[in-house]
Amino acid sequence: METIYDILKAEHKQVSDLIQQAMRDGSKETFFKVKAKTDPHLLGEEKLFYPPLEQKGDLRELVSHAYEEHNEIKSISSELESMDASSSNWTSKIKELDESVSHHVEEEENKVFPAAQKALSEDKAQQIAQQYLDFSKNFTQQHPSMP
Ligand SMILES: [Fe+2]
Ligand SMILES: [Fe+2]
Repeated sequence: METIYDILKAEHKQVSDLIQQAMRDGSKETFFKVKAKTDPHLLGEEKLFYPPLEQKGDLRELVSHAYEEHNEIKSISSELESMDASSSNWTSKIKELDESVSHHVEEEENKVFPAAQKALSEDKAQQIAQQYLDFSKNFTQQHPSMP
């Protein structure tokens, strides 16, 4: 079975590929695809991956910084959601999302994951992976991607 780290990294790649596509085609439809991939990822991490890390005292600051970055991504994403793709600042907002996501992904993969790999047992990581996949599947079923 894939580890939680493999699962999250594969989703990071999917999200950034979709953001690149959104920057190329400038469509709101592609933005909604980005959102449909990003929302369950952020929520799943917050519900299942970050809490066990927060319990490890020395990781608390790293995780609280990650939450802040999630909030920034969510706020840019909700601005885009209420914007028209033809508006003059659409392109710069998508670019802002790209930068915010890239920055977070880099920190997560280079700081959070290595720290988590040390802090969590393989059993615990396996359990999180299973819960994450279940959560993600349910979320996607309950939130059909296009409005
Ligand atoms: Fe992530
Ligand atoms: Fe994250």
